[in-house]
Amino acid sequence: MTRPKVYVTLKIPDEELNLLRSFCDVETNDKETSPSKQEIIKRIEDKDGLLCSLMEKIDNEIISCGSKLKVISSISVGFNHIDVSEATKKGIYVTNTPGILTNSTADFAWALIISSARRISEADKYVRDKKWKIPWGLTMFLGSEIYGRTLGIIGLGRIGTGVAERSKGFKMRLIYYDVIRASKEKEENLGIEYAPLETLLKESDFISIHVPLTPETQNLISHNEFKMMKPTAHLINTSRGPIVDEDALISALRNRTIAGAGLDVFEKEPIDPDNPLIELDNLTIAPHIASATRESRHGMAKMATENLLNVFKGEHPPQLVNPDVMKIRQLSETKMV
Ligand code: GLV
Repeated sequence: MTRPKVYVTLKIPDEELNLLRSFCDVETNDKETSPSKQEIIKRIEDKDGLLCSLMEKIDNEIISCGSKLKVISSISVGFNHIDVSEATKKGIYVTNTPGILTNSTADFAWALIISSARRISEADKYVRDKKWKIPWGLTMFLGSEIYGRTLGIIGLGRIGTGVAERSKGFKMRLIYYDVIRASKEKEENLGIEYAPLETLLKESDFISIHVPLTPETQNLISHNEFKMMKPTAHLINTSRGPIVDEDALISALRNRTIAGAGLDVFEKEPIDPDNPLIELDNLTIAPHIASATRESRHGMAKMATENLLNVFKGEHPPQLVNPDVMKIRQLSETKMV
């Protein structure tokens, strides 16, 4: 049997790279930055597999150039960067890495909630800018309390559920909106109530977004939605940037339509140095690091490697995004090792 040829678009831990190399001929991108589209097209022509990250847009054109591709394994839970329907049509297995990053991401959403409520990044900058002159002031850096307030969760999947679970110590009222309503049992166990999006926006003190980016969720939060929020509300986004209309967010923060926001994701990443968000003091900004714990990131690389190798072994990959692909190309036809 010929060994599968694989292109890896990012640095992965040695352990996973060596495992891949024991079964496949591997080409890697050793640069810190993602390869360009042209580079991916050049590399993909003779490859059976692609191991990539969310930073590479794997569109129709790339997929068409990868005429031998059998698997695209992404080191991410989100897969909006891959044209999954095109891959499915071509019999390419698409896999992702859910679950392993649930805890790290739910923790980070909470880090942003607390930072936004208590103005931690603004206060940190104030001290570093050497502006701290009065030792203690009764009205210095007043923020919002979290205890007993209402937390609105948009998307009660794995991560949204993790955020809800973590709110217990804050004795919050919990509400959620999702296109699929959770079971009564899950609602009762979490102590969470379903609410239409409009109600959630009107009643929440903290709104945390946990839906995938799809055509339906793009700009889910725009001017009208900000107008519905309380002026004391905080918006937290650890899912995907384009779910929030960035211009609308900038106006809402500037005009204090809402009190603050915590963002880990943006319409364009990295954000441009002249993005007005950078100048806003009522915003905590992070560079897409919600899943960045040693445990999660290593686990994601491991899971993505297993997903990819399983397809070459003709075995069901642990996390298959497009099960319909099996109608186009069975796993017996992807077996190469
Ligand atoms: C991170 O954003 C991911 O999708 O894994």
